[in-house]
Amino acid sequence: MAEQVKKPIGITETVLRDAHQSLIATRMPTEIMLPILGKMDKVGYHSLECWGGATFDASLRFLKEDPWDRLRKIREGAKNTKLQMLFRGQNILGYRPYADDVVYAFVEKSIANGIDIIRIFDCLNDIRNLQAAVDATNKIKKQEGRGEAQVALSYTLGDAYTLEYWADMAKKIEEMGADSICIKDMAGLLVPYKAEELVKTLKESTKLPIQLHTHYTSGVASMTYLKAVEAGVDVIDCAMSPFALGTSQPATEVMVETFRGTPYDTGFDQNLLAEIADYFAPYKEECLKSGLLNTKVLGVNIKTLLYQVPGGMLSNMVSQLKEQHAEDKYREVLEEIPRVRKDCGEPPLVTPSSQIVGTQAIFNVLMGERYKMATGEFKDLLRGNYGQTVKPMSQEVIDKVIPGEARSTARSAEATGHTEPELASIEAEMKEWKQQEEDVLSYALFPQVATEFFKYRQAQQDKVDMTQADKANGAYPV
Ligand code: CO
Repeated sequence: MAEQVKKPIGITETVLRDAHQSLIATRMPTEIMLPILGKMDKVGYHSLECWGGATFDASLRFLKEDPWDRLRKIREGAKNTKLQMLFRGQNILGYRPYADDVVYAFVEKSIANGIDIIRIFDCLNDIRNLQAAVDATNKIKKQEGRGEAQVALSYTLGDAYTLEYWADMAKKIEEMGADSICIKDMAGLLVPYKAEELVKTLKESTKLPIQLHTHYTSGVASMTYLKAVEAGVDVIDCAMSPFALGTSQPATEVMVETFRGTPYDTGFDQNLLAEIADYFAPYKEECLKSGLLNTKVLGVNIKTLLYQVPGGMLSNMVSQLKEQHAEDKYREVLEEIPRVRKDCGEPPLVTPSSQIVGTQAIFNVLMGERYKMATGEFKDLLRGNYGQTVKPMSQEVIDKVIPGEARSTARSAEATGHTEPELASIEAEMKEWKQQEEDVLSYALFPQVATEFFKYRQAQQDKVDMTQADKANGAYPV
C-alpha cells in the first residue's frame, strides 16, 4: 500500500436486518435486539442497517410486532449511530408499485421514526422507479435536517452490464440527487478483481461516496471487500460473526482486523465487538437447535457463480420442484433460467424479478414446451409494468405470451395506473383500525397481513383493559 493518507473505512452493521433476513428468514424479534443496542451504539459504525427489506412484512406477519414500534425502540437505544433501511423504489417495502403520495408518506414517516439513510433500489435498475423516493428523501432532509438518499445499483452479470453501463448509471444517480451509491450484489457474484475494476470505474465517473454490499454465498466476499477497499470504496456492509458468512455478509470483526494498522483502519475496539458477538452467540445456538438456522445456508455455494443465480432463489427453486415431485429437473431448470432472463431483457435477479424469472423457468421445463403457460407476473414484466429492461425483450416470446397486447414504456407507477394519489382511499378502507398515522402505511403495503395484526393488537389491548377493569372491581386481590 503506497498511500500514506488515512482513509478509515466505514462499516454498516447488518446483523439487525440483512444478516437475519439471509440466515433465519427475518425472524429476529425486537426483544433480542434491544439489550445490545447500547454497546452497538459505541462501536462507531457508519450505520446500523436495521429496517426495511423483508423485516416489515415479517414483523407483522410472523412476529406479531409493529415494525414502526421496533424502529422507534431501536432509535431510542442507539442515539449516536445512523440508522439505515432498504427500500424497493416505487414498490416501497411491498410487491407492487404505489402512487407517489404513498412513497412520499412512507419516506417521511421512516425518517420521522428514526431512519437516517434510505437505500433505494429497483429490480430492473430502471432509475425512473427510484426518483420519487429520492425526491421525497431530499425534500424531508431540507425540512428536518435528517435523511440521506442512497441509490443502489442491483449488480448483475450479462452482455448489457459493461463497465460503461455502470459508469453511466452512476452519473445518472448523481444527477438525480442521491447522496451516495451502493453496489448491491445480492447474489455474491462480484469477484475480487472485478470489484477492483468496478469501484475504480465508478470512482472516476462520480464524486459520490460508494458503498459495497455483498453476500458470502459464493465464498469470495471478504476478498472482494479487500480489493474494493484498496480501489477506493468508502463503506462496506458486514455482519457480527455469529450471524456472518454463508448467505449473510462477511464478518465485521474479520474486516476490522484485516484493516488494522493500515490507512483504512476503522479504529473499532475489538473487545467491544467481542462483547457484542458474545451477546448474539447464544441466540444463534437457539436458532440452530430450533432449526430456524439451517446449516445448509452457512456453507459455500459455488453454484451461485456457475449459474449466476442468487442463493435465496436456488433454495426457492428446490422447494418449488419438490412440491411438484420434479427434483430430477433441477439442472434443466438451472439451464433454463439464463434463457428466460435473456428473453425478458436480461434483468438483474432480485425481488421480485428473481421470483418471476425463476417460476417461469420452472413452468417452461415442467410443461415440456417453453411459454406454453406464463405466470401473471411474467406477463406483467413483458407488458412493461415493472419498468424498462436494459436489453430489448424477445419479440417471439412477446408474440406468444401476450399476443396483440399494448406494452408500456412508462415507469412502473404509470404503467400500472397508479398515477393519482391513493393514500386517502387506503386510509378510508382501514380507518376503524387506525391508532397511529403509520398504520395507514402498514395497511397500504400489506392489507391482509396488517389487518390480521391490527385484530391481534386490539385483542391484546382488550385483554389488558379487562384485567385492569377486573382489578378495579376487586375481582383480583391487588
Ligand atoms: Co443483501
